[in-house]
Amino acid sequence: MSFIRVQGLKSLQGKIEIQGSKNAVLPVLAAALLHKGVVVLKNVPRIQDVFCMLEILKALGCRYWFEGHELTLDTRDLCSYEVPREEGRQMRSSVMLLGPLLGRLHRAWTCYPGGCVIGKRPIDLHLYALGRLGAEIQLEEEGIFVSGDALTGADVHLLFPSVGATENVLMAAAAARGTTRIFGAAREPEIQTLCHFLNALGAGIGGIGTGTLIVEGGRAFQDVEFTIPGDRIVAGTYLGAVMAAGGDICLAGVLADHMKETLDIVRKTGCQVEWTGNEIRALMKERPLPIQISTGPYPEFSTDLQSVMLSVAAVAQGDSQIQENVFEERFATGKELQKLGTRIIIEDRIAYVTGSYPLKGGEVCALDLRGGAALTVAGLAAEGESRVRGCCYICRGYEDICRDLSAVGARISMEEG
Ligand code: UD1
Repeated sequence: MSFIRVQGLKSLQGKIEIQGSKNAVLPVLAAALLHKGVVVLKNVPRIQDVFCMLEILKALGCRYWFEGHELTLDTRDLCSYEVPREEGRQMRSSVMLLGPLLGRLHRAWTCYPGGCVIGKRPIDLHLYALGRLGAEIQLEEEGIFVSGDALTGADVHLLFPSVGATENVLMAAAAARGTTRIFGAAREPEIQTLCHFLNALGAGIGGIGTGTLIVEGGRAFQDVEFTIPGDRIVAGTYLGAVMAAGGDICLAGVLADHMKETLDIVRKTGCQVEWTGNEIRALMKERPLPIQISTGPYPEFSTDLQSVMLSVAAVAQGDSQIQENVFEERFATGKELQKLGTRIIIEDRIAYVTGSYPLKGGEVCALDLRGGAALTVAGLAAEGESRVRGCCYICRGYEDICRDLSAVGARISMEEG
């Protein structure tokens, strides 16, 4: 079993090239199924969740070539509407295949989705939205079967701006006859990427970036070449690293425009940040100032960066308060952080953290993807050696966290044992 070894207390200097976005590429891969043809994607991250999605697409009849970060996907021979159980259970994003399979093959089956255990993660909004377009939904013991020979555009009102539900209905609506209006849609940059991809494919989506998306469905699709944007959550993780460990780093290949709320918090910790084009520079000379964060749907602070901010708060010069409003079980990482000397009290949805520096090296275990990255960040600010186990979670979303942090001088490596 592999683990990450970190020798802390080394300030970070240098540049990291940010990988393509996990949360953007997964729905784009699903959406490619709508089209019977060939799609070329650039800047695709080589992460476990992408490999898992590709296994699923292969089982459905697609072929692919993945060289470096360029992926060619041939969907002409798509023949199965059943997501294989084993892969489907491994990742939450398998549920996103319902919309495009329904659009292309008029039916879809998937087991109840897996993914990180960070909360209840129901899919009622996905099913409601597909139902609005005329899909028939059967909840079976092991999975969900949706069918519909004639999907028709409709008004869809999402009671919560769910990222996955918005993506699912966008894809089904692109194949449906007539106009769909999605009210209360999620506005995350990854939704915008999906809309741009669908439009490049031939769909007619308006209102991109707003909470009301309008889809003119039923248009013909075409082959397309498309570039996946940089991963704002990976970039946020490395900003967390420099805030916790100190230093001067540059992040290349990510849009600061998609990270305003994060950069706002980064600044409040005393970190100097500036950006030009698609590069962000962050300079951290002192221990971070305490932070107050409350997570929420975009443009609020991302729940995906909440755990990393716990690690920053752990070494801050005072008391921080972090409130989780999206996924109730993300605070499980807080208990692991205590093993590195973090002073943290969790009451319901709020974590109260009293900063102290340095943390103490120790052995911890990743419990989910972002939590694992947060523990690695905490190791950078800990005296002595830390070991982070449960690396399989981290590999789901980070191409090579050790390579990236080594590039800025961290003493970190992936080991077997
Ligand atoms: C996506 C991201 C994940 C991110 C999350 C919120 C991907 C692959 N994953 O996950 O990294 O943390 O957005 O930004 O893009 N909910 C319901 N019913 C539903 C769907 C969701 O109640 O049908 C609730 C969930 O339990 C959760 C909240 O809505 O409390 C947010 O979920 P959602 O936005 O759907 O997140 P995901 O798409 O699963």
